Amino acid sequence: MAGTADYKLGSFTYPRGWFMIADAATLDTGPTTLHFFGKDMVFYRGESGKPHLVHAYCPHMGAHIGHNSTSYVVRDGDRVQGESIRCPFHGWRFGPDGQCDDIPYSPNFIPKAACLKTYRVIERAGIIWMWHDPEGGAPDQELPPFTQWDQEADGWVRWLVDDFGTLPIHPIEIVDNMADFGHMSPIHGSVDCRYFDNLFEDDRLVQRFDAGHRTLTDGASGVLSLDTWYQGPGILQAAMQGAYPSHMLIAHTPVADGVVRLWHALMVKVPRDGGTDEAGRIALARAYQQASRDALGQDVEIWANKEPSFNPMQIPADGPYGKVRIWYRQFYNPREEAEAFRRRVRGQVVTFGEDRASAA
Ligand code: FES
Ligand SMILES: [Fe+2]
Repeated sequence: MAGTADYKLGSFTYPRGWFMIADAATLDTGPTTLHFFGKDMVFYRGESGKPHLVHAYCPHMGAHIGHNSTSYVVRDGDRVQGESIRCPFHGWRFGPDGQCDDIPYSPNFIPKAACLKTYRVIERAGIIWMWHDPEGGAPDQELPPFTQWDQEADGWVRWLVDDFGTLPIHPIEIVDNMADFGHMSPIHGSVDCRYFDNLFEDDRLVQRFDAGHRTLTDGASGVLSLDTWYQGPGILQAAMQGAYPSHMLIAHTPVADGVVRLWHALMVKVPRDGGTDEAGRIALARAYQQASRDALGQDVEIWANKEPSFNPMQIPADGPYGKVRIWYRQFYNPREEAEAFRRRVRGQVVTFGEDRASAA
């Protein structure tokens, strides 16, 4: 299995950024064990419903905080109290900041060092997101707002998350897709390509692509216009202008070095006054999502079966794979070194076509 060191990405095994860790609909109040970034973590909701994510192992003597069914702490329903979580072994309880706030058999002494590592999580657009930082710093990237989620009144149909499971591939090979002009026709069925470029903008990487499609556009003149962008290393969004506007998410998160978990989702704007009832609107949005999921599935079949590509053999007609990989390295190195990588790639690379305004 090829890991971060094999791709020479930087000094950290796992990147700095916001990452999807779960479809909120698949989690009950917990505690639930999750495994990402080579670490066992425990997710739970406090009594307020607020999500929390903590290191899986208790600082007292290393018991797994979430993996237990026989302790009386569990049987008595005492694991989550308020926003705190209690260890099943000796019953020490930890607050949402990780600090131990109760030792049942030691009312007068709680060591300061009794602190459970906690991770920053946000629930947004039906998804649980985690801030991961090898340096332990506060977020220096923005978690996308996914504003369409709260725009149902304007006709947006919320997404259901598609889980592609884990793939034995380093996420760099997924990010390579941003420069991959050459796979658009053989993999995705694009025809009559008109335009393809990339914009490198600090922690954002954009791809703009205009082309027809074998099945998704009607008639030879139909053009699908796609704006796709990464915000940080693990969250891809795409705005597609077709018969209905849609907003796509592809999220990928390292599980271990060289193993990645992949999700997909799509929101579609279907007008309420378009002559379709509510069930019809939802059905249409689901059909759109299915088509989008199938397109990603075409990439996934390649990713699941390929060998690692440490140095893509880039020809002049290819997109800027090399620059994409330099851009991506900013997340695998200390934040004060990020600017050096950004500077090397900042700007626009047009791979195909002339001016987009006239092309689109
Ligand atoms: S190991 Fe958790 S309370 Fe002792
Ligand atoms: Fe693709």
